[in-house]
Amino acid sequence: MQVALVTGASSGIGEATVRALLGAGYTVYAAARRVERMEALAHDGARLLSLDVTDDASLTDAVRKVLGETGRIDVLVNNAGYGSFGALEEVPLEEARRQFEVNVFGLARLTQLVLPGMRERRSGTIVNVSSMGGQFYEPLGSWYHATKFAVEGLSDSLRIELRPFGVRVVVIQPGAIRSEWSSIARTSLLEVSGHGPYAKGARRVASVMKTAYMPGMASPPEAVAGAILQAATSHRPHARYRVGAGARPLLALRKVLPDRLFDGIVRAIYRH
Ligand SMILES: NC(=O)c1ccc[n+]([C@@H]2O[C@H](COP(=O)([O-])OP(=O)(O)OC[C@H]3O[C@@H](n4cnc5c(N)ncnc54)[C@H](OP(=O)(O)O)[C@@H]3O)[C@@H](O)[C@H]2O)c1
Repeated sequence: MQVALVTGASSGIGEATVRALLGAGYTVYAAARRVERMEALAHDGARLLSLDVTDDASLTDAVRKVLGETGRIDVLVNNAGYGSFGALEEVPLEEARRQFEVNVFGLARLTQLVLPGMRERRSGTIVNVSSMGGQFYEPLGSWYHATKFAVEGLSDSLRIELRPFGVRVVVIQPGAIRSEWSSIARTSLLEVSGHGPYAKGARRVASVMKTAYMPGMASPPEAVAGAILQAATSHRPHARYRVGAGARPLLALRKVLPDRLFDGIVRAIYRH
């Protein structure tokens, strides 16, 4: 029996990932705060966990439950996360810290809890869902990008750190994906920066986001779930999987262009 634990399973990429792993024969634990939103997954065979990744006791209880029932976690998908947008100057530090708690510290703490078992068995895969925004950047998104750049750095170090123990670390970099993410990001952006000195820029960024997430533009979450499944089942997974609208071309340009030229592309996209 191969056991997977997926966070952020009540919506979007996490939900699709649970289905993909179930389809591949895994015993899957689906974790999120809104347990009632995961009833259909339970119906399809997932085991549900109530989990708030910012709450240490909640994380400890969840891992204890999985290990108590199965004795192992083979694949951890750290997917829970959200985008809190707005000008750096205007986002209250409390909210910036909250976003780091969810997107970075929650991911890191859960990894700490799962690692002893993986090290002992000398196998396991940790899949960290970053973003194309882990290497790409937008105006009025500095805090979100800071969290995802942090996930990228953390994952790169960890990949090498855990190699001697046979534990693999993979980064997923989704592009624009249809889920609840974009409405949360746009709402925060317009609430925080839609009225003050950054209002003009905020409206432009919100409008680009709206277009990028229109039907037919953004990719389905199943595309990301497919990449996660590939990473989880591969003996030699890639360090990074770029998947979904925009991710490959933008990150390829980011790799080859000097900062000033790449800034020009970002400024052209956002008319900033
Ligand atoms: N959609 C995109 O375009 C896109 C692009 C790049 C990267 N991503 C990344 O992909 C991941 C999944 O996003 P998505 O697009 O599927 O968004 P989504 O539909 O909003 O789903 C986010 C998930 O995270 C969970 N979550 C949020 N805060 C949590 C907390 N404190 N504790 C536990 N779970 C929490 C939510 O569950 P509850 O609220 O029920 O807890 C939900 O299941 C995120 O890390 C996101 O940054 C998304």
